[in-house]
Amino acid sequence: MDQYAVKGGTPLVGEVEIGGAKNAALAILAASIMTDETVLIENVPDVRDTNVLMQAMSSVGAVITRIDRHTVKINGSQIHNLVIEDEYMKKIRASYYLIGALLGKYKHAEVPLPGGCNIGVRAIDQHIKGFKALGANVRIVHGAIVAEAKHLTGNHIFMDKVSVGATINVMMAASMAEGKTIIENAAKEPHVVDLANFLNSMGANIKGAGTDVIRIKGVTKLHKTEYMIIPDQIEAGTFMMAAAATKGDVTVKNVIPKHLESITAKLIEIGCEVEESDDAVRVVAAKRLHNTQVKTLPYPGFPTDMQPQMVAVLGLAQGTSIVSESIFENRFKYVDELTKMGAEIKVESTMAIIDGVSKYLGAGMTVPDLRAGAALVIAALAADGFSTLDEIQYIERGYEDLEYKLQALGAQIERVSDETQLKKFQLKVG
Ligand code: EPZ
Repeated sequence: MDQYAVKGGTPLVGEVEIGGAKNAALAILAASIMTDETVLIENVPDVRDTNVLMQAMSSVGAVITRIDRHTVKINGSQIHNLVIEDEYMKKIRASYYLIGALLGKYKHAEVPLPGGCNIGVRAIDQHIKGFKALGANVRIVHGAIVAEAKHLTGNHIFMDKVSVGATINVMMAASMAEGKTIIENAAKEPHVVDLANFLNSMGANIKGAGTDVIRIKGVTKLHKTEYMIIPDQIEAGTFMMAAAATKGDVTVKNVIPKHLESITAKLIEIGCEVEESDDAVRVVAAKRLHNTQVKTLPYPGFPTDMQPQMVAVLGLAQGTSIVSESIFENRFKYVDELTKMGAEIKVESTMAIIDGVSKYLGAGMTVPDLRAGAALVIAALAADGFSTLDEIQYIERGYEDLEYKLQALGAQIERVSDETQLKKFQLKVG
C-alpha cells in the first residue's frame, strides 16, 4: 500500500492553484442526470469520491464522457435502472444524492443505507423527512432506502438540524415537484449555492440558496447546460494552514476569498498575515503563532472540514488553545497520531485542549479519515525529521495531486510504494 514519506522543516513558499470543490461536484454530478439532455461540467476535481460517484451513475445507465481531466459530459437519457448498488455506497456516502436526483426525475430511487462513517454518527432522518414531506413513500427494505411517489408535491419543510446533505437532496427532488417548496433552516454552504445555481441553469426555479430559507417552484423538465464548479474552499484552507504551520509564504490562487473568511479570520487572530485579492489569498507566517479558541459551525462559521488542520497548526502555537467540534462527535481520532509527533492535546468529549509545543518530531502515522489525513500531512511538513503516513487512500478521496502541489511549494514529500522507495527518499532528502 502506498505511503507518504515526508521530511519536514521546510517553510512552504510559492503559489498553488486550487481545483473544483469536491462537495459541490458530488451534488452537481448527481443532479446532472435530472435532464435527458447532455450537460457539460467543468472544474470537476479528479479525486476518488467524484470518480466513484460517476461510476455509480454509469452503473444505472448515465453516459459519461471525460473531455479532459476536469471536464465531463453527462447524459442521463439512457437511465434504465433506479437501484444503486451497495459497493458504491460503501465507497462513498454521497451516492445518496442519487436519491434526490432519481426521485425528482423518475419518482423512484433505491439506494443502500449509508454505513457508519469514521467521523461519527451521520443520520439521514432529515433527508427522509424532506422526501416524505414532498409526498414520497420512503421505506427501508433489506438495508436500502426505497423512495417512490406517484407525483411529488411541494411543501413547507422545516429542517430540525442544519444539514448540507439533506438540504441538497431535498432541493433536487423539490426542483421537479409540483408547486412550491420552502426549505427552512437550510444549510448555507457555498456548495448548496453552487448546486442551486447549477439547477437554475438547467431551468429550475430556486431562490434564496445561501440564506436559511430556500424557495423552490417545481418545473416539469430540466434542460442542458454548461457549468463550471466553484473552487474548493477546504482544499484552499488546507494550503493556508500548511503555510501557517511551516512558517511559510503561500499564495493560494483561484479561490473565492469570501468563502474563506472564517479561516482567514482565525489565521489573522493567531498572528498570520493574510492578504486578499480578487481570486487569491496570500498567507505569511513570519513568527511563532499564538493560541486561540475555535468552534466548528455550519457556514459561515468555521468549517468542521478544517478542524483537524486548524488543530495541527495550533499544536505548534504558543499558549493553550481550545477547539470545539459541534458538527460531528467523533472527529478527533487523529489526535493520537499528532501525539506521536510530540503534540500535547487532550480530548474531552467534543473539545480538544491544546498546549502548544515549540516543535513536532517526525513519526510513523496512520490516516484515519480525509481531513484528518490533511492535518497529519501539515504536521509532518512542519515537523523536524522524517514521517510516514499510511492509509493515504483517504486523502485521495478529496485532494487532487496533493503531493505534487506541495512539492511545487518546496515541500519534501513523496508517495512511496515499498521499503526501497522509502530508503531512496530518505537518502535523497538526507
Ligand atoms: C457534508 O456532509 C460534507 N459532505 C462533509 O464533508 C462535511 O463535513 C459536512 O457536510 C458538514 O459541513 C459532502 O458534502 C459530500 P450534514 P453531510 O448533513 O451532508 C446531522 C469532507 O471531509 N444530521 O451537514 O453528511 C449529522 O449527523 C466531508 O469533505 C442529522 O442529524 O453533513 C451531523 O451531525 C466529510 N440528520 C450534522 O447533521 C440528517 O438527516 C451535519 O451533517 C442529516 C444530518
